[in-house]
Amino acid sequence: MTMRILYIWKEIIMSNLSVNHLLGIKYLSLKDIEQIFETTDHFKEVINRKIKKVPSLRDLTIANLFFENSTRTKISFELAQKRLSADVVNLSSSASSVSKGETLIDTVNNILSMKVDMIVLRHPSPGASVFLSKNVNSCIINAGDGTHEHPTQALLDAYSLNQKIGSLKNKNILIVGDILHSRVAMSNIYAYQMLGANVKVCGPKSLIPKYIESFDVSIETNLTKALKWCDGVNMLRIQNERMSESYFPTVREYVQQFGLNKKILDSIEKEIIIMHPGPINRGVEITSEVADSEQAIILDQVENGVAIRMAIMYLLASKI
Ligand code: NCD
Repeated sequence: MTMRILYIWKEIIMSNLSVNHLLGIKYLSLKDIEQIFETTDHFKEVINRKIKKVPSLRDLTIANLFFENSTRTKISFELAQKRLSADVVNLSSSASSVSKGETLIDTVNNILSMKVDMIVLRHPSPGASVFLSKNVNSCIINAGDGTHEHPTQALLDAYSLNQKIGSLKNKNILIVGDILHSRVAMSNIYAYQMLGANVKVCGPKSLIPKYIESFDVSIETNLTKALKWCDGVNMLRIQNERMSESYFPTVREYVQQFGLNKKILDSIEKEIIIMHPGPINRGVEITSEVADSEQAIILDQVENGVAIRMAIMYLLASKI
């Protein structure tokens, strides 16, 4: 028989968040991000214990509504909820009555009638979470809405980078790839800038939106030059599912100009941190050698994602 020790977390953190939902980084303040990071530190300690569970949200029921594919984000939210002892229900698009013609608001109101307290929404339409927050009476967390925002991803990216290189103030952060269709890029830009970093984007001109410079983000189309400038880089996947036309001649040419490989990394003669939100297309935006190298923190990002999501749900729960 194994003796088990019951580690119960006694500390209470008072939520000072300025928001009642997590709809996007652009709606947060620097203070909000700082409180989320401080709370994440506590939950990171919790999930590294032998018993990775605390009773903080045992009175809450949370519904995860995923109308778009997801591996990491969906499992990360669900694990975060279970580690906070919340009750969890899951719905995915193919299995929902939205495919029978029901509106999103009707679907969510039906779920809320069953005494659900919080909704985590992933949706292909930009603005879906903001729309829902205005039309239903519940706490909404955006788990990615089309090309708009993916706030929990940006928070876990910034937190992971912060753990490696300290404060992001005056640090140079590069985002490479499909900036035009990436919600990760937009949320990253808001988060890094709020934390005081300089942001540059790199990719084919056809995948960089014209308005990006109005966000105080500079553009560099030469990957080597851009890498020499940065302290950390976030490599993004080409969002083929959001493209109705071709944005570059061939994948081979894209890889030649914008793929991250060991040869380019060696040529810049400095150590930079490499991130990727996943899913990775090995051999396209990043080679296996780089993705699996010491400089890459891709799996740290995934680990931190659970603690970040625990922190967000814990802080928002006290506002319900
Ligand atoms: C990202 C997403 O879904 O926006 N992935 C994720 O949530 N980890 C990035 C992507 O799909 O390329």
